Amino acid sequence: MSKGSGKQGGGASLQPPRGTRDFYPEDMRRRSWLFERFREIALRFGFEEVDAPMVEHAELFTRKAGEEIVEQLYHFELHDRHLALRPEFTPSLARLVIARQGALRFPIRWFAIAQNWRYERMTRGRRREHYQWNMDVWGEPGVEAEAELLGAMFAALDGLGLARGQVKVRLNSRGLLEESLRGGVLADRPEVFAPLCVVIDKIDKIGAEAVTDLLCSADGEVRLTSGEAERVIEMLGARSLDEAARFTTPGSQALADLRTLYDLLDAYGIADQVPFDASVVRGLAYYTGVVFEAFDAQGSLRAIAGGGRYDRLAETLGGRPVPAVGFGFGDAVIGELLADEGLWPELGREIQDVVHAFGPEEKTAAIRVATRLREQGRRVELTLGQSKLKRVLGDADKAGAERVFLIGEDERRRGVVTVRDLARQTEHEESLDGGSR
Ligand code: HAM
Repeated sequence: MSKGSGKQGGGASLQPPRGTRDFYPEDMRRRSWLFERFREIALRFGFEEVDAPMVEHAELFTRKAGEEIVEQLYHFELHDRHLALRPEFTPSLARLVIARQGALRFPIRWFAIAQNWRYERMTRGRRREHYQWNMDVWGEPGVEAEAELLGAMFAALDGLGLARGQVKVRLNSRGLLEESLRGGVLADRPEVFAPLCVVIDKIDKIGAEAVTDLLCSADGEVRLTSGEAERVIEMLGARSLDEAARFTTPGSQALADLRTLYDLLDAYGIADQVPFDASVVRGLAYYTGVVFEAFDAQGSLRAIAGGGRYDRLAETLGGRPVPAVGFGFGDAVIGELLADEGLWPELGREIQDVVHAFGPEEKTAAIRVATRLREQGRRVELTLGQSKLKRVLGDADKAGAERVFLIGEDERRRGVVTVRDLARQTEHEESLDGGSR
């Protein structure tokens, strides 16, 4: 897929494929720290963790609505099977739910931390592989589910050290659009709603005129009248529920749901962090109702998280209807924001004890001491080979160790170990089995 052979000087390229990352120990420490925060919040909200294979049947992802995500699929044929690396977790999640639909007790709250693959054009925070924390509720049609999910998202942002106001979630409902077109184009051709939303989502990239052209094109799938298209574009400008109300039909269910949602968000203390913005439509075809996207307040990065309600995905994939809503929260964009804000914590190796034998004769005693300490639950580095004491002490200090256990010939003869406390700069002796002397 990339230009060139990917080879250098006859050997395999030592670069990871463009847009993918290697995780060295210091990178893994950050990744684990982030994922622990995600996991902790999910558990605090009563969600259960699930996972699924990264490789799925390609048809699980190939939808016909013209979405970017389908064009970006990493896919391949193997033994007559058409397979793909997942570009997102939601279709896999739907597969899991459908397979046990009769047995599950709805509503269910499931979360996952999954790696996804998309052949993207890269910009800051946009990669060809990324991890996503997914939180989804299946079986609850009411906006209580949306509110709970947004509550969890803000709890996670708090847990990452971001102050209120540093991230805003822009929220809309596709239901408003759907209702306004129900008497028109959707009456005869309800199937055009998904491609219509996918086209509208391109407005920031290609502009209102180009979107109007696509929506009205006689060769296109949607084929709105110019009056309908104009109304749609105008509606996208609404920035409050009262403004949106000007475009809705009397008794609008979508508007009533949004009002209820904002009352609930108020109870979570986050209503002011979630501005209504009718231009948020999202680029995935399956959303049916409320949609939302989280952005840094400066607007300098791409979306940190995005989600919404997708009440018809189960049916689309061959299951029985079941309402669903959720979000995906990427690791890459939040990583950039934490770096910009200086919020990544110092994460050391967290070694607690270092055990060092001065010579080969003391190795077995050192192993016994290390084993005893490890059995106590301590994180222990046993020095390997022959290192100089100065280097051992320097490395122990760098690794954040609290104590260094030293065994030389004299200690071995007397059956003791010298314990140096690095913080207090004190030393004492212990017997090899840990008894005090
Ligand atoms: P999405 O908006 O495509 O939604 O992705 C969600 C988040 O994943 C984005 O806001 C972004 O942080 C991150 N992300 C997506 N693509 C990339 C990329 N190429 N590089 C880095 N980060 C990326 C979904 O995927 C939906 N399945 C989310 C969802 C779950 N909706 C309901 N449940």
